[in-house]
Amino acid sequence: MGRVVRALGRLSMDRVKTGVVGLDTMLNGGLLPARPYVISGPTGSGKTILALHFLLEGLRQQEPCLLVTLDEPPIEVKANMATFSWNLDRLKILDATPDIRAHKRQRSVIDVGTSLDVRDMEDVTEIRQSSQIRALEVTVHSVQKMIKQEFSHHLERTKQRYKRIVIDSMTALKMFAMQGQDSRILIQSFVRFLAELEATTLIISERLNKKILETEFFLARGEIRVNKWIDGSVIRRAISIEKFRGSSFDDRMHPISIGDNGMVVYLDAPAQTRVSTPAPKPGESLLETRLIDEVSNVIESIMRQIEDAHRRQVPIRDIEVSLSRAMLAFQRRNYQKAIKLALACDSELKERLGKAPLPPPISTPPRPPQVIR
Ligand SMILES: Nc1ncnc2c1ncn2[C@@H]1O[C@H](COP(=O)(O)OP(=O)(O)OP(=O)(O)O)[C@@H](O)[C@H]1O
Ligand SMILES: [Mg+2]
Repeated sequence: MGRVVRALGRLSMDRVKTGVVGLDTMLNGGLLPARPYVISGPTGSGKTILALHFLLEGLRQQEPCLLVTLDEPPIEVKANMATFSWNLDRLKILDATPDIRAHKRQRSVIDVGTSLDVRDMEDVTEIRQSSQIRALEVTVHSVQKMIKQEFSHHLERTKQRYKRIVIDSMTALKMFAMQGQDSRILIQSFVRFLAELEATTLIISERLNKKILETEFFLARGEIRVNKWIDGSVIRRAISIEKFRGSSFDDRMHPISIGDNGMVVYLDAPAQTRVSTPAPKPGESLLETRLIDEVSNVIESIMRQIEDAHRRQVPIRDIEVSLSRAMLAFQRRNYQKAIKLALACDSELKERLGKAPLPPPISTPPRPPQVIR
């Protein structure tokens, strides 16, 4: 009995708490460590607030935490969070906003005469390598390079790795940096890069269209969705876990509120209608819905195999290109073509992985045994 209790205790210790109490209960104790997760939801739903809870919880546990901000410059992040009496002093903020926006926004914050004490803002540890990111020149590669450099500098300085990272947001990164058809491949490699950092990472991403398969949603180990809708004249919010690989979880949607203490989840409130559940649209046949599910499953499996291939250094660039074609067909709602292309990728990948030599012995320290892959 004692052993069981100890084992359970260890298991919950290995969970990474989000810092939002009710959400941690929904997650069966918290996130599984060292993996990327997506926080999705419409604008103003509370994604950044949730991510800051997660970072604050890390700081409370003396863990090195990093916020990579693309949406708002650090000064504005702080100004927005001023109502919450949170101490973000020890938070490292990597400013990856394009210069022009950052400059304009910073001025406007001061111009409007915010109640914030500007001296407090100087406490924010900001990192900006402007030689790498110039005006409106944010690329996936430059952001990746910034993170990589900050990681190694931090490791050198403190002999510690970052444990928690937030990317706020992938939607902004895509808007600034993604033009051209290679964007899916770039995102795939960016999410893989984040996974290899072995920090628990939250990628904030708006799910703009339920029909569009955004790459990060496949590669992430889980998705927490912050829902927001108008009920008469009242804004309502609720939280749901859409996916959580390797763990059981509470799959109901629970109401949330945002107040002076941040986000609160009401676990005992009556279950909500899942507004995010795609209601079958008129004209969308059952066959089409099945096809969507099938394509999603095949693509998700391909993504996992691609990760495996990269770990084992099996060359698959051509398959990644074919996959991006399959995803494009999916986005254009050409499901027949998407499934055909995806199945071809799947069998080609299986064949190459089958022929490839076994992975080389891993030199990094082994993962804790509790981590379920
Ligand atoms: N002290 C507070 N009390 C109540 N509500 C607040 C408070 N501070 C912020 N909010 C609400 O939280 C919302 C913003 O949350 P947050 O910035 O996390 O949204 P977001 O999902 O990140 O949006 P975006 O996609 O635009 O970045 C605001 O729209 C505001 O309504
Ligand atoms: Mg935000």
